Amino acid sequence: MPTHRTGEFTVIAHRGASGYLPEHTLAGAAMAHEMGADYIEQDVVLTRDDELIVLHDLYLDAVTDVADRFRGRQRDDGHYYAIDFDLAEIRTLRVHERLKVNGDPAFPGRFPPDTTVFRVPTLREEIALIQGLNRSTGRDVGVYVEPKSPAWHSREGKDLMAETVLLLAEFGYRDRGDRAILQSFDLESLKYARHELNSDLTLVQLIGENRWRESPTDFDYLRTEAGLAEIAAFADGIGPWLPQTVDLSGVNFGKTTGLVEAAHRRGLLVHAYTLRADQLPAELGTIEAAMELLAAQPRLDGVFTDHPDQVIHYLESKGY
Ligand code: G3P
Ligand code: CA
Repeated sequence: MPTHRTGEFTVIAHRGASGYLPEHTLAGAAMAHEMGADYIEQDVVLTRDDELIVLHDLYLDAVTDVADRFRGRQRDDGHYYAIDFDLAEIRTLRVHERLKVNGDPAFPGRFPPDTTVFRVPTLREEIALIQGLNRSTGRDVGVYVEPKSPAWHSREGKDLMAETVLLLAEFGYRDRGDRAILQSFDLESLKYARHELNSDLTLVQLIGENRWRESPTDFDYLRTEAGLAEIAAFADGIGPWLPQTVDLSGVNFGKTTGLVEAAHRRGLLVHAYTLRADQLPAELGTIEAAMELLAAQPRLDGVFTDHPDQVIHYLESKGY
C-alpha cells in the first residue's frame, strides 16, 4: 500500500481513479485511495428530493442507463436531468463508462462500458467511504468537491452550494486545516460560500475557456492581473485548464504562459486539470513525458488526473 505523501505536489484523483474504473463510482474512489492520491474529486448535483449525488453532468444520460429505465422523463433538450429524479429512482440506475452521444465510449480502452455493477453514489456515501478507508489504512486522503453549476441549480430553486457546505461541515470539514477543498467555476458562488455561508474551507476558483460553455463567470478576465487579485481577495487557489499554464499546441510548445507565476505572486495555489494518459498531446505520449515537461515549468502545486498511480510513480521516481 502506498504511504501517504506529504510532498509539495498534490495529486488529485479526477472523478476517482477514472482511467481504470467508471468515473464517480465508489469502486473508483476506493481504487484512487489505494493508489495513494492526496485528494479524491467529487462533482456533485442535487436530486429532486435534495440529496447530493456524485455526478459530473447535470444529467444522467452519458454515464447511466436512465434512457432505458425512465423513457419519457427527459426534458425538451433530450437530457434526463438528475434534478428531475428522486434518489430512490437514481439508485435503480446502472453506471457505466462515459459514452458519447453516438454511443461510443468517450475513452476507448478503458473499463468495458457494458458492465452493470456500479451505482450512482451520494456524496454522503463517498465521504463515509473515504473517511472509513482513512481510518483503516491510517492515511488522510482529502475530498475535493465541486458543486456543479450552482447558478443553474439556483434557477431550479435549489441552493447547491449551501447544501454542500452543510454536508461537509457535518463530516468535520469546516476550515482550511481540514482535508477538504471546495472548487467552482462560478466566481459568485465561491464568494457566496466564503462571505455569506461563512465557510472557512480552502477555496479554489476553477478557470475554463469562455468558448466552452455558457457561464456566469468571465474566464478570460480571471486570468488577468485584476482577475487574479479578485480571486486572491477571498480564495486560496486557482484550478486552470492545463493548456492555460503551458503551451501544449502552438509554436511555443512547452513554454509557460505566465499564469502559474502570476498566481503564485498573489499567493494562490495552482491545481491544473486534467492529466489523462490516454488523452495527451502526441508530442508527449506518456504521463511521464508530460510530468517531465511540467517539471520544467514554474512549479504547479498539483494536478487533477484520471491516472493518479502514474503521476505518483513519476513523483516517487524523482524523490518527491
Ligand atoms: O474540477 C476540476 C476539473 O474536474 C474541471 O473540469 O469538467 O472535469 O469538472 P470537469
Ligand atoms: Ca470537476
